[in-house]
Amino acid sequence: MKRSKRFEKLEQMPINKDGFSYEWEEVGLITMESKFDPKPSIKVENGIIVEMDGIKREDFDSLDKFIADYGIKVENAEKAMAMDSLEIARMLVDINVPREEITEICMSCTAAKLAEIVSHLNVVEMMMAQMKMRARKTPANQAHATNLDDNPVLIAADAAEEGARGFAEVETTCALARYAPFNAIALMIGGQAGKAGVLNQCSMEEATELELGMRGFTSYAETLSVYGTEQVLIDGGDTAYSKAFLASAYASRGIKIRYTSGTGSEVLMGDAEGKSALYLEIRCLMLTKACGVQGIQNGSINAIPLMAALPNGFRAITAENLIASMLNIEVAAGNDTAFTHSDFRRGAKLVMTMMPGTDYISSGYGGIPNLDNVFAGSNEDCDDYDDYYTLQRDMQVDGGLNPIKEETAIEVRNKAARAMQAVFEGLGLPEITDEEVEAATYAYCYKDMPARNKVEDMKAATEMMEKGTTVIDIIKILHEAGFEDIAENLLNQMKQRVIGDYLHTSAIFDENYNVISAVNDRNDYMGPGTGYRISEDRWNVLKEKFTALKPQEI
Ligand code: 5AD
Ligand code: CA
Repeated sequence: MKRSKRFEKLEQMPINKDGFSYEWEEVGLITMESKFDPKPSIKVENGIIVEMDGIKREDFDSLDKFIADYGIKVENAEKAMAMDSLEIARMLVDINVPREEITEICMSCTAAKLAEIVSHLNVVEMMMAQMKMRARKTPANQAHATNLDDNPVLIAADAAEEGARGFAEVETTCALARYAPFNAIALMIGGQAGKAGVLNQCSMEEATELELGMRGFTSYAETLSVYGTEQVLIDGGDTAYSKAFLASAYASRGIKIRYTSGTGSEVLMGDAEGKSALYLEIRCLMLTKACGVQGIQNGSINAIPLMAALPNGFRAITAENLIASMLNIEVAAGNDTAFTHSDFRRGAKLVMTMMPGTDYISSGYGGIPNLDNVFAGSNEDCDDYDDYYTLQRDMQVDGGLNPIKEETAIEVRNKAARAMQAVFEGLGLPEITDEEVEAATYAYCYKDMPARNKVEDMKAATEMMEKGTTVIDIIKILHEAGFEDIAENLLNQMKQRVIGDYLHTSAIFDENYNVISAVNDRNDYMGPGTGYRISEDRWNVLKEKFTALKPQEI
């Protein structure tokens, strides 16, 4: 065939490097409304659910049973299930219906019912509903700080810059697992050097991560994965009970917990029972609720390359974020995994949570370059800051970040790197040289850092753990080395664990360690003039564009 020059050019556009797939319902390769999805039903006898979505209690698998017994408010269930799903869908976008009225109904619905409700909404309606339904009134954001070399000085500097840019939470993981203790303390120290009150996690294999938390090196845990079919949950090494137990272990030490799930994981792991990705994700959300866990990181997460390959992918992902909010669960809303070559497309994906706002608009904005991202890349990274700020300014929307000057970034990065130097010296760990401090202050990526002796570092990290080092040792060293403010921030973090208020739904800290949560910062959106509104002070921050022309320059 003689080729059209237009089609030839189109073929080379970035979007056409993405992979796409037709649906295949039999294996569950479908975003919403599979013909194999159950129809909503419920039967309650003596306060016990004896039938749910067409399955009789005697035929429940372990996940059905756990959800039926702990994940649904039974008292109200028959009444809620008798309501017209279209009516509930309309309530979601009706400004006259308060959030609480809807969460009360949704917490008494089955998974099939929730799927049916959102199936009536188009994406704009979902975004409107999300603006009303998210738990915390003030939106926030979360960042990744990792690098290919697990360089702890660089992690600290990156976390500091992220704090200064406004992220409420920062998180890391490792390229090499034995580096975990260093990555964790680097992130913790760096975050507090950037801004008081930043929460931090180090995503690791479960025993290590719990241990880091108990030492006081992390303040939240998020990658406790749950899945929506019994078989996939078991393949992941879990039962509903083991996940609930692990969550309780963290919470009992005052560590904030949220689970991770997301559409597409069950079909990726080969056992979706022919059910749609959204239906199975709703089961994950109900399991989260059943375990008493306050929040979820969802929005497909690592499965987004698959969801984005299917028709209706973004809409299903928007729906899963929304349903978390409908169940009164804090939602860290994805946008954390690279899935497309197209800037057009990744921008469009981001605005679906950025415009309505969620508890965390991205559950992993890469505050580092893509090449350093040891999670699976991110949909946004450090190269995109100015685009992000400009969108906030263009739309008068609060995406949880604030522009900073180069001087500020350099200052906090340097402080974090020097604090790390002092802590390593104080703990008798391999030296951090002045050259490394300087490099981390100005670095773009791991390639700008002098190489460290990894074998020596990993050995020292293990010994540090064996010695029983805790955050208290680090606080003392920081205090003595002249980093009193970082020491005080970390001590405040520990005090907050004892108080426990930041275990409430959707809790973050302000810079004075006041909790901002769904309890004291309740989302009360009911139309224009209500809910989160950008204050004059905040707008002055958001609209700052250092390169914009001033009247005298025009
Ligand atoms: N479902 C469940 N867990 C997920 N994770 C990422 N995506 C999903 C998903 N769709 C978890 C995995 C991964 C971590 C970053 O988050 O545990 O290692
Ligand atoms: Ca995350």
